[in-house]
Amino acid sequence: MIFEEQLKLCAKKTDEYLERCYSDNESDLSLIYEAEKYSLLSGGKRIRAYLVFEFCKILGGTEEQAANFACAVEMVHAYSLIHDDLPCMDNDDYRRGKLTNHKVYGEAIAVLAGDALLTKAFETVAGNELVPCEHRVNAVRLLARLAGDGGMVGGQVLDINAEEKSESTLPELQRIHSLKTGAMIKASVLLGCLAAGKDINEYLWHDAAKYAEKIGMAFQIVDDVLDVIGDSAILGKKIGSDADNRKLTYMSFYTVEEALGLARKLTDEAIEIISRYSNTENLVNLAKYLLERKK
Ligand code: IPE
Ligand code: IPE
Ligand code: MG
Ligand code: MG
Ligand code: MG
Repeated sequence: MIFEEQLKLCAKKTDEYLERCYSDNESDLSLIYEAEKYSLLSGGKRIRAYLVFEFCKILGGTEEQAANFACAVEMVHAYSLIHDDLPCMDNDDYRRGKLTNHKVYGEAIAVLAGDALLTKAFETVAGNELVPCEHRVNAVRLLARLAGDGGMVGGQVLDINAEEKSESTLPELQRIHSLKTGAMIKASVLLGCLAAGKDINEYLWHDAAKYAEKIGMAFQIVDDVLDVIGDSAILGKKIGSDADNRKLTYMSFYTVEEALGLARKLTDEAIEIISRYSNTENLVNLAKYLLERKK
């Protein structure tokens, strides 16, 4: 099976698990559930969920053990996208080929849908009864740290502050990317390791984090490149958004070819690290796919 087909199967499975997180809804609150699900179940690539399932599997865990954690990282991710698209942030009208959340529900409900997804993510991690308590607590702590002010949110702050600043440096850009995008990729990998519920080999933990850092950086470099040369019909979001917002991106320092060369180098390094372990072919293929992707 080609890798993209495998990713699609994972997306389908993830959507089914996500649907189950909305099974006992209060009828008078249907608006907020609808707004959450509009963005959560709108067809993302689900690479974060894939990482949770795959790392859990490699460490000897089951799909069921990984499911809640996979849902949680996709909930945090969906919240981050809803807020990222708001007029006060990147001001984008399309996401995953549909109008952005605030375009459909208005800004107030979009902010609240993001808040609800973020909080539901922690309910979902804490409620994973197939994982020992100690690992669950660690998962809560890790997800909070990597999604919060020292992680994704912090990266978004630096990203906004770097707009229109001409004197920013490459290390500053790398810091933004590793936080705004890399942190949630790392959270996905490490939650996958925790989901297996086993004693964790320190070396594997360290290498899993390194793999995540490298594919995370490569992923955001490709995102920056696609904002210039991508096809908006395939991407499902408008291209040229970074230029409109005068964002600091890899395109501020490099040509498309140079940026892709750097992404390739990071991908090769990630593959080198992870292929030292057995049963990691899928993680090698994921790294390659993320480099070649058009969406
Ligand atoms: C988009 O992430 C936001 C970034 C971190 C660049 P994805 O490209 O993974 O978005 P979906 O989930 O597939 O829509
Ligand atoms: C978004 O980065 C990162 C997060 C949502 C945390 P971008 O702003 O580059 O993502 P896109 O291009 O809108 O998907
Ligand atoms: Mg942004
Ligand atoms: Mg954006
Ligand atoms: Mg982008």
